[in-house]
Amino acid sequence: MSVAELGKRVGRHVYAHRDAAGDWPAPVAERVFAAEALAGTQAWNVVKWSEVDEARLTLLTYEDLEEAFPALLESLTVDLGRRAVLRRSYRLRANPPVLHRKELLLGRDDPRRARFARLTAQLEALGLLNATTTIGTRLGWARRLREAGVRVVDHDVLAAAHDDPPVVVRRHLAALQRSSLSTPVQALLKYGLIAAGDRVFDYGCGFGSDVEGLQAAGIAASGWDPYYAPGAPRTSAEVVNLGFVLNVIERPLERAQALREAFGLAERCLAVAVITSSRASLASCRPYADGHLTRLGTFQKFYLPEELKSFIETTLGAEAHPAGPGLMFVFRDPIAEQDFLAARQARRTFSPLASLAQRRVRTAARMEAVRAEVEGLARLSYELGRPPAPTECAPDLLVRLAEARVTLAAAIRDALGLCDAAVLDRARRQRIEDLSVYFALNLFNSRQSFGTLPDGLQRDVKAFFGSLSSAETAGRSLLQSLACEETIAAAADEADAAGLGWRDPEGDLWAGTAKLSHLPPPLRCLAGCAERFAGGLDAAQVLKFHVGRSKVSALRYADFGTALLPRLETRSKVDLRALRVRRFDHYAEDQRLVFKSRLMDQDNPDYPRQAEFDARLAATGLVVDGLRARWLDIVSAVRARS
Ligand SMILES: C[S@@+](CC[C@H](N)C(=O)[O-])C[C@H]1O[C@@H](n2cnc3c(N)ncnc32)[C@H](O)[C@@H]1O
Repeated sequence: MSVAELGKRVGRHVYAHRDAAGDWPAPVAERVFAAEALAGTQAWNVVKWSEVDEARLTLLTYEDLEEAFPALLESLTVDLGRRAVLRRSYRLRANPPVLHRKELLLGRDDPRRARFARLTAQLEALGLLNATTTIGTRLGWARRLREAGVRVVDHDVLAAAHDDPPVVVRRHLAALQRSSLSTPVQALLKYGLIAAGDRVFDYGCGFGSDVEGLQAAGIAASGWDPYYAPGAPRTSAEVVNLGFVLNVIERPLERAQALREAFGLAERCLAVAVITSSRASLASCRPYADGHLTRLGTFQKFYLPEELKSFIETTLGAEAHPAGPGLMFVFRDPIAEQDFLAARQARRTFSPLASLAQRRVRTAARMEAVRAEVEGLARLSYELGRPPAPTECAPDLLVRLAEARVTLAAAIRDALGLCDAAVLDRARRQRIEDLSVYFALNLFNSRQSFGTLPDGLQRDVKAFFGSLSSAETAGRSLLQSLACEETIAAAADEADAAGLGWRDPEGDLWAGTAKLSHLPPPLRCLAGCAERFAGGLDAAQVLKFHVGRSKVSALRYADFGTALLPRLETRSKVDLRALRVRRFDHYAEDQRLVFKSRLMDQDNPDYPRQAEFDARLAATGLVVDGLRARWLDIVSAVRARS
């Protein structure tokens, strides 16, 4: 498949299913790989990439492609350049985007392609895919089909039957982000049916709060859900939980199938929990099938206690034992069954395992409530290169944490868990470099005691150096390193390689003062010494580091920002070995800065124009002194060339 035929194109974006990964060009596959690593997940099924912005791509999770029009469940937008990930969940949205023309996302040899393409052709023939602004979301699309008097069954367009209710049941919206363990899991723990060393499988696990709570208590728990964890394996376990699943399924046959499958995985015991009619609130519901439709679009079958028992027993052919309101246990292991019956008679207290799991779920729910604040703390930690102190946090952030009963220490722990360790480490090293330069240059001032340093600096000193004297030692050794020619040459090489300056054929480094704070510490320190000794750098825009001679020249130009060949006004040459400063006025002799693009960022909007001009100037064979040339020489070189 050629690159032009690949995926579904929308504007300058391409969408492709991961099943077609074999067809992707290598650079796309590499970017997807990098995005997965950055997002820390492989749970997605469609990738969207831009043909114009290579750094951005989005990993999307849609419902299974066997759905006629799969809805978007989640998106992870990854910016590879800034190493940032933005997660957006659509799972709880009543009207998520839906996917049309699915065949375009698949490889040419994919067996599903023909079936999906046939559906698209039928819809196109009816003109149903024209109004692209309204059909892209679930409700808009359902309305369009309804208005056209059609329905889609098994990828075929049929005339709508008159008794067809225009209903889309959104089962997964019934799931809750729990702040404590669900009642069936609590009961399983209470009766000792889940013990240390057991495996637990949560069939229809929703957001997975029970699984997380059990895992936190050291139990090998896992789960599957057709919406929230469709790719997770369905594995057998000593204990299986089917919690509040049967009541959200509107088709009785499918209810029985889910029950049988869940029991099939249970080696010891299955817990089945449903909402009972006594707990039902029917105020905002309307009758549908053998239950009710809620305003959210979910289905609820409210069971009578006897109804649940007989449904389970007739479906599974095993006795269902009531264990609480709307809760039944069904046993595969007769010994466990007898233990349970005996335990039910005895008074039981909550087991330590249960309270540990319960506590973990509550903590997780509290942390989820302050997710934005935790992310803010992660950003602040990147900025500081260390965890922030309370006084460095925004007061309203502290208030929101307190309201959610989350301590700052816990929020910071979570924030550090979110941070990319390599990025945090880089931020930390940069802060140490900045502070070493600060303390090196501060040695020229009279010594300050620790207590007189500003609060933030005190914290930096403690976090990065341990003590003020260690910080000063770091500064002193940086200052001493300036006498070493190799150190300066290596720093100049590093700056040149990083595009922060340009080394001329003599080995001297030219750099714009705008990038001074990004230069390697020895050069920053050298510039700082020169500035202090000369009493300022005369608003210079360019510095020249004379490598091996302990000299720094500061050059100031007229119209530096706008001119292609800025005119040199003054030059100060600071000799740090001889401790001498010489100032020159060059205006009258008309010297120019040539090849200014060597000192510019490539993302500067003026860069292309300057680079093109510089290339033409270089083609004249003009003889230059570093980045300096006389105007007359420039003019004659250009004339000679033309
Ligand atoms: C009310 S939630 C309960 C989630 C979880 N067990 C709990 O107690 O928090 C119902 C869940 O059943 C899932 N579900 C819907 N149909 C299902 C089926 N046929 N088999 C298994 N789970 C299903 C939904 O996706 C939803 O997450």
